Amino acid sequence: MEELIETVAEFIVRSRRIVVFTGAGASTESGIADFRSRGGIWDKYNPEDFYFQKFLTNEESREKYWQMSTEVYESLKKAKPNPVHLAIAELEKLDKLDCVITQNIDGLHHKAGNSREKIIELHGTALSVSCLSCRRKYDRDEVQERILNGVKVPRCDDCEGLLKPDTISFGQAMPERETNEAYERSFGSDLFVVIGSSLVVQPAATMPVRAKQGGAKLVIINRDPTPHDSYADVVINGVAGEIMARILGKVRETIRH
Ligand code: APR
Repeated sequence: MEELIETVAEFIVRSRRIVVFTGAGASTESGIADFRSRGGIWDKYNPEDFYFQKFLTNEESREKYWQMSTEVYESLKKAKPNPVHLAIAELEKLDKLDCVITQNIDGLHHKAGNSREKIIELHGTALSVSCLSCRRKYDRDEVQERILNGVKVPRCDDCEGLLKPDTISFGQAMPERETNEAYERSFGSDLFVVIGSSLVVQPAATMPVRAKQGGAKLVIINRDPTPHDSYADVVINGVAGEIMARILGKVRETIRH
């Protein structure tokens, strides 16, 4: 592991346009469950129930959606950035971060100190809510209150439309600007670092491929194997927080000399 840590630190020292790509595994050390590990969200809930089409057409699916979303939001509210997020914020301070592309909806890259324009939220954010009909915005805490006070499916105060957190569900259109920007920046990167993702959900999982096509070095840091390991330059399997803290320690040492 030590040798791999040193190799990745070397890559970082030599790179100027680093793109970091995070999945739910980057936030588990902040107390937020991921999706596909044992005990993850898709162990407790059936992903089939959370397709956008079902949310639009079926009241019971909407109730299930809000039940899951309310539970997850409680853990999001309490969550603090962990060493993964802090390491990525430090890469920006070192002027080496082109951007962080995240599948996560927890806002922890913002909380860790990365600038808004450097964060691409491919799957939206759970920290705000919109009316699907008139697009009026609602504060997530205010909607959480309504649910905790017994409202099963919150609706818009203005037009009675369906409220939904500003996240992207299966079957819902990806945010066009963010997706295109993620493709471009992945292709233009000189180092692409995946942290805490199973790399099974498209189109997000295409980003490391675009990076390789653009000539970047690819590093995957994940507890479990991923389908893209075979063409990564370096794969480090282990706990991301500890690995990223050790990598940035090495980078600081090298830059200081
Ligand atoms: N350190 C390193 N790896 C970790 C850690 C950790 N502390 N915790 C979990 N992991 C790894 C797991 O081994 C797993 O491979 O992170 C990965 C998380 O994978 P998923 O749960 O599939 O999360 P993600 O890849 O982000 O899922 C993508 O799927 O359900 C949709 O929209 C949802 O954005 C999500 C998308």
